[in-house]
Amino acid sequence: MRENATSSDLLAWYDAHARRLPWRTSPADRRAGRQPDPYAVWLSEVMLQQTTVAAVKAYFTRFMLLWPTVEALAAARDEDVMAEWAGLGYYARARNLLKCAREVTELGSFPDTRDGLQKLPGIGPYTSAAISAIAYDHPETVLDGNVERVMSRLYAVLEPLPDSKESLRALAARLTPNHRAGDYAQAVMDLGATVCTPRSPTCGLCPWSTACLAREQGIADTLPRKKPKAPKPTRLGIAYIAKRADGAWLLERRPDKGLLGGMLGWPGAPWGEERIAQPPLKANWQLLPEEARHTFTHFHLRLDVQIAHLPLEARAQGCEFIDRHSFKPSSLPTVMRKAFDLAQSAFDEPK
Ligand code: ADE
Repeated sequence: MRENATSSDLLAWYDAHARRLPWRTSPADRRAGRQPDPYAVWLSEVMLQQTTVAAVKAYFTRFMLLWPTVEALAAARDEDVMAEWAGLGYYARARNLLKCAREVTELGSFPDTRDGLQKLPGIGPYTSAAISAIAYDHPETVLDGNVERVMSRLYAVLEPLPDSKESLRALAARLTPNHRAGDYAQAVMDLGATVCTPRSPTCGLCPWSTACLAREQGIADTLPRKKPKAPKPTRLGIAYIAKRADGAWLLERRPDKGLLGGMLGWPGAPWGEERIAQPPLKANWQLLPEEARHTFTHFHLRLDVQIAHLPLEARAQGCEFIDRHSFKPSSLPTVMRKAFDLAQSAFDEPK
């Protein structure tokens, strides 16, 4: 007879197989009474929104080194935080991170409930549930992509996402235990990330395999079904990369609102269906043979890269020169860094 899935089966699996992650308090440490640091839980969950665990690890470690407490982060300079966030994408998250750190510092500590957490900048239904469960062991249901996949398979939910989201949430809620809710939330995520994987789930290693309806029906690797998404449009733009005779680079801080808001980037014009030439100053601009390409959530971007050498007295409105020792390509958003990588080899070539 098929058995029902239970949280205790999953927790026993987690005790043996929990991933070691820099922000995680291990099940053994929790048992020994070591509670997670809500700041570390919050920071990791905000970083993990729409970014992979592998990509987040180094960023998380660096942030904890630079700003070990929420008060330290609240006191940081905005541009330092934006520069350290560069490469993680979704830069509104970094601006909200700072706002949230400052509000929490005013409050004195992180709230422990979903409702309290959700009032803070950058914390939505997923993140509030995750923090409340992981940091405070409240029995909240945490529904991310991993959990959706696990639930859709366990109960053979054929309805495609996103329509099935609320059904999946209800199924996930039924399984959420009152005890060890923090470990449980992370256990479902780990199961989805390491065993119940999108393409080739290793059902032989799964603590819920005997309960899994999709496995019984031989359809595990076809779930969850997803409604087809509209194809992404392509936008065009230009990046103007100029180097002054003393080696300084001409950069522009983007407005706080909008894509890449608050980040440093190369001057250009609005991205659209056509490229609009709008150099930041007169110079002998040279078009590079290769475009910089990058895909955002809602569109593909193709940037022409124009480069120029500037004399020492060059000026450009709304832009700033960053001297060559202070300029760090790693503090640029990825699309701008890709453009720089193309330009750099061109600048390196003898003229
Ligand atoms: N993805 C999002 N949050 C996570 C966490 N706390 N552990 C593992 N994967 C995650």
